[in-house]
Amino acid sequence: MNNSFNPLIIRNKEFIPVVQGGMGVGVSASSLSSAVARENGIGTIASVDLRHLHEDLLAESKINPSEEKYTRLNLIALNREIQKAKTQSEGRGMIAVNVMKAVKDHAALVRQACESGADAIVMGAGLPLDLPELVGDYRKNVSLFPILSESRGIGIVLKRWMKKGVLPDAIVIEHPAHAAGHLGSATVKGVNDEKFDFKRVLEETFELFKQLDLEREKIPMILAGGMANFQKVSTALREWGANAVQIGTAFAVTKEGDAHINFKNTLMGAEREQVVEFMSVAGLPARGVATRFLSSYIKREEKLQANAKADPKRCTQGINCLTTCGLRDGLPNAGQFCIDLKLAEAFRGEVDKGLFFRGKDPLPFGTTMKSVRETVEYLLTGQLVAIK
Ligand SMILES: Cc1cc2nc3c(=O)[nH]c(=O)nc-3n(C[C@H](O)[C@H](O)[C@H](O)COP(=O)(O)O)c2cc1C
Ligand code: SF4
Repeated sequence: MNNSFNPLIIRNKEFIPVVQGGMGVGVSASSLSSAVARENGIGTIASVDLRHLHEDLLAESKINPSEEKYTRLNLIALNREIQKAKTQSEGRGMIAVNVMKAVKDHAALVRQACESGADAIVMGAGLPLDLPELVGDYRKNVSLFPILSESRGIGIVLKRWMKKGVLPDAIVIEHPAHAAGHLGSATVKGVNDEKFDFKRVLEETFELFKQLDLEREKIPMILAGGMANFQKVSTALREWGANAVQIGTAFAVTKEGDAHINFKNTLMGAEREQVVEFMSVAGLPARGVATRFLSSYIKREEKLQANAKADPKRCTQGINCLTTCGLRDGLPNAGQFCIDLKLAEAFRGEVDKGLFFRGKDPLPFGTTMKSVRETVEYLLTGQLVAIK
């Protein structure tokens, strides 16, 4: 497909300037990531709890469940998804793996992704200060993309990495007022802070590059959050100096998206006012669709937070998936529900029970499901008629 944007260049290789964001649990796995890679884009597998995609692993995890087993089966699932995605991408594009810093197994997931042949590790939901060490010698072949939301965080990561002689291969800037899932602000109210404005973050970061004696071209900047719109892509790439956009929600609902059809319909059918923010159990604000579960949880949130109590038994599944968990650790400012259970219910298409992450902005094709190719084509050429 012809488009008039400059390619995204990572380690001298050219890609279309569209990145598919990692989406857990099981929303972006081998099918979606490889479809994006086949368009010569960057497709991302979300590494969190991929065992749900493999019936044999899920069945095994139910026999004498343990934390160790949960970790081991998820690493097997990640390896399987990477192998499949690499084969199905037919040598085009890139297969990246998203790892959330907040997840207890983040180091093991990074290691597995490297061993399994991932082309890049994308890390957010916490400052990825130690990502270079986690990747170690694999860095020769594995690109590193931190996800950050404002220039201060970018400065902290850059300075720390530069002391180790490492630079990010690209930086994802995720806007807390638009993106889906966990958001990079401290509080729900804080998501609209002006310090997150894309244009401002870019300007401040380019200034920071100057202070650090870094060439601006050296580190591509990728904007994430509400960017699934040709006009916005044009402005970001042509006027603001960004190098690519990262898209989540609009790819989650494509034909190739790995999620259940009910998941896609829930995201596509949500009106703007049904997309809400709340505190996640991981201690960060998050954004999703106000389904029956989420609406009722939000109503009870204050009461539940007032009853927060540190108790290992509150991790009913006993898998301790998060390093810090508001429910298990009794943190009164964090969420009070088991996010692993809720995301798994959404993955299975249980609309009333599950937690469905979604970005704030309208989708390019409304409630119509399109393919990855059609979505990419619209984003880069504006050619398909977008429905409001
Ligand atoms: C269903 C869903 C799950 C997500 N899960 C993750 C995740 O596991 N890790 C992560 O870093 N970002 C996650 N995200 C954020 C996306 O990677 C992406 O940056 C964001 O959705 C961009 O905003 P947009 O949805 O407006 O395009 C998720 C987004 C969605 C829609
Ligand atoms: S309660 Fe749920 S979200 Fe919290 S650590 Fe345990 S499994 Fe994870």
